[in-house]
Amino acid sequence: MNSSSIVVLTGAGVSAESGIETFRGPKGLWEGHSIDEVATPEAFLKNPKKVQTFYNERRKKLLMGSVFPNKAHLALAKLEAKWPGTVLIVTQNVDNLHELAGSKNVLHIHGSLLEARCTQTDKVYFPWKEAILKTTKCACCDLAGTLRPNIVWFGEMPFELPRIFEAIEQSSWFISIGTSGQVYPAAGFVEHARLHSKATTVELNLEPSMLSHLFADKHYGPATETVPDYIEGLLLESTSM
Ligand code: OAD
Repeated sequence: MNSSSIVVLTGAGVSAESGIETFRGPKGLWEGHSIDEVATPEAFLKNPKKVQTFYNERRKKLLMGSVFPNKAHLALAKLEAKWPGTVLIVTQNVDNLHELAGSKNVLHIHGSLLEARCTQTDKVYFPWKEAILKTTKCACCDLAGTLRPNIVWFGEMPFELPRIFEAIEQSSWFISIGTSGQVYPAAGFVEHARLHSKATTVELNLEPSMLSHLFADKHYGPATETVPDYIEGLLLESTSM
């Protein structure tokens, strides 16, 4: 990764204006569903049908063709296409809107709704588009009931952490977009950037997050406005680099 690389961390706020509810907003995804009911390995052991139904519904919504990337996703894809260095998007989101917008270098730290994983062999299936039912058989072990969403639940280790920490250490910008900064380890990335890189730290969020005091540069408002504006500025800067 060269000296002008950018790491972008995104959270639910980047997809809010595409119609996907955030986790902790007034109409948040967890409303009516406690984390303990649908987002822990214990919940899956206790009531697999409930957990599968929760993710089946969200996968279905994504695939119905009614959810589209918004101007923030599109601006990030443009940044990756035009920036002279590397742009890595680290998303906490389990939707596929960055990819639909055209971003290529995307890591889903909390997994993806479009992936299923075999609990016997750890084989990951992508793209996975169907509902996972009690009767759904896994192709690798030929058993029913072994598949789960490839989503990181509370108490499980997020994906790709060594690669992300290394990318942050080598970055010149660390830009956090639409995340409340309440879930670690992602919430610790800005501190890692401050301690282990020379990156300019930037927060683009609807309102100051819990971690806003850690960012050098901050812009508040809807992602569809702040992200395209900020990225246009960065791209202008790149022409004089
Ligand atoms: P949250 O719901 O915690 O936070 C969303 C953030 O986006 C808030 O700070 C909002 O102010 C901001 N926001 C809302 N609408 C916005 C808009 N239109 N433009 C810009 N910002 C906006 O979501 P995350 O921080 O992504 O983890 O949550 C992190 C993790 O907590 C999720 O990945 C999920 C959840 O538990 C797992 O499932 C493991």
